[in-house]
Amino acid sequence: MFIANWKMNGSESMLTGWLEGVDKTLDKNTQSECILCPPACFLFQASKIIKKQELGIALGAQDIDPKTASSLTGGIGGSMLKELGCEYVIIGHSERRELFKEDDSLLLEKLKSAFFANLKVIFCVGESFEEKEKGRTLNVLKKQLEIIYQVPLNNLMIAYEPVWAIGSGETAEVKYIKEVHNKIIEEIKSHEKGNFLGVVYGGSINSSSSKEILSLQEVDGLLIGGSSLEHKEFSNIAMSINEKKG
Ligand code: 13P
Repeated sequence: MFIANWKMNGSESMLTGWLEGVDKTLDKNTQSECILCPPACFLFQASKIIKKQELGIALGAQDIDPKTASSLTGGIGGSMLKELGCEYVIIGHSERRELFKEDDSLLLEKLKSAFFANLKVIFCVGESFEEKEKGRTLNVLKKQLEIIYQVPLNNLMIAYEPVWAIGSGETAEVKYIKEVHNKIIEEIKSHEKGNFLGVVYGGSINSSSSKEILSLQEVDGLLIGGSSLEHKEFSNIAMSINEKKG
């Protein structure tokens, strides 16, 4: 599973070139699912191209609004995302937790919104540098995961993104990723979730670091920010799956 999180980047022309480029490169070479999460304003265009050209790329939204009332200026609800062709939605990204103060109660409403729209959830968790230094990583993650058990999600993927690794050029050590992913898997399985899609890693991934991380049995894919913007680099990362064993 390779997820391109474009964050607040992109344009119409970039989108067209990216979809065609990735589809061409990956077609014969990899079977792993690729998911593009462009900014919301490009979802319609992306969906049109994917359908028209029958590309093997799934579409995801970077955010969803709670299913409260329809009186939410600027809001985009789950059914709207579904209508736009989204299969996935990212919830709980650290950038939104930090900048928009998205707390557990808001994230819970977003999870419900995704559930009612039958969207597959990519739920992000991760510790800060300070929390890591204090040895609190596993406690922090356990606490962040608590809200997902309150929603009977049909399809759930966890994205482990250490906050200090995002956009820093520094990925977490392989040994560390292995330990954390194992704990997350253990934690989720003890709660018997519906269809658990696995745990992906995110944070400063590029085509040099991807192979080693993907070689871990505990890593089911990657959530990629900066390196997903250029279609060749994203394709190279996705093709590292071919060397994954087990
Ligand atoms: P970078 O790959 O740019 O570090 O971003 C990771 C991320 O936040 C993906 O959601």
